[in-house]
Amino acid sequence: MKNKVSGIILAAVAFFCVINSAWADGILLDTLTVIHNRKSVRNFTGKTVSREDLITIVKAGMAAPTAVNMQPWSFVIITERPALDSLSEALPYAKMLDRAGAAIVVCAIPEKAFQEKLELAVIDSCCASENILLAVEALGLGAVWTGVYPEKERMDVVRKQLNIPEKVIPLNVIPIGYPASGEKPRDKFKQGNIHWQRW
Ligand SMILES: Cc1cc2nc3c(=O)[nH]c(=O)nc-3n(C[C@H](O)[C@H](O)[C@H](O)COP(=O)(O)O)c2cc1C
Repeated sequence: MKNKVSGIILAAVAFFCVINSAWADGILLDTLTVIHNRKSVRNFTGKTVSREDLITIVKAGMAAPTAVNMQPWSFVIITERPALDSLSEALPYAKMLDRAGAAIVVCAIPEKAFQEKLELAVIDSCCASENILLAVEALGLGAVWTGVYPEKERMDVVRKQLNIPEKVIPLNVIPIGYPASGEKPRDKFKQGNIHWQRW
């Protein structure tokens, strides 16, 4: 009887863990662990990232909150080596693209945003970008947000290379790949940045 009860309790705990967790590489990672483990990864092995993983990652991006649920975005997924290499050459702060297995460019579309506000398109797309970074971490891959918007020169380069329309804002380029070195997350918790009730 005692064994039966322990069995039921164990099964219940396992079920609770499954429904509250992310599944990565055979290991269950809870949401807070993924959030705190995320870090910028800039060294990759060069191994390609599967289409299935890329879809999982973009799907996480699309699950982000947006003002009035407008979802004012599009995602350009790049897997072809020549395209990754030429972006790497053209973008000084995204050199690591030459060893990445793929990249996602998060594009904000002001005309699809609530009241067609550029700011909301950008804010919403930032939410999607963070979800993308977290999904990458949960899958045991690495990524880094490389900035494009608001630098006009970088936006022009990315638009030109990827055929992105003028009215669409390439927010960032996110190289994704298998980590080549063991980057560690930083502890950024600062008590001084918290204000209870009032500033
Ligand atoms: C808006 C934005 C722009 C960034 N641009 C770049 C970039 O161009 N190149 C780069 O290597 N990292 C870039 N980063 C990554 C930051 O350098 C990184 O997030 C920061 O140093 C904190 O480190 P962590 O991501 O490991 O926590 C950018 C991050 C953000 C949010």
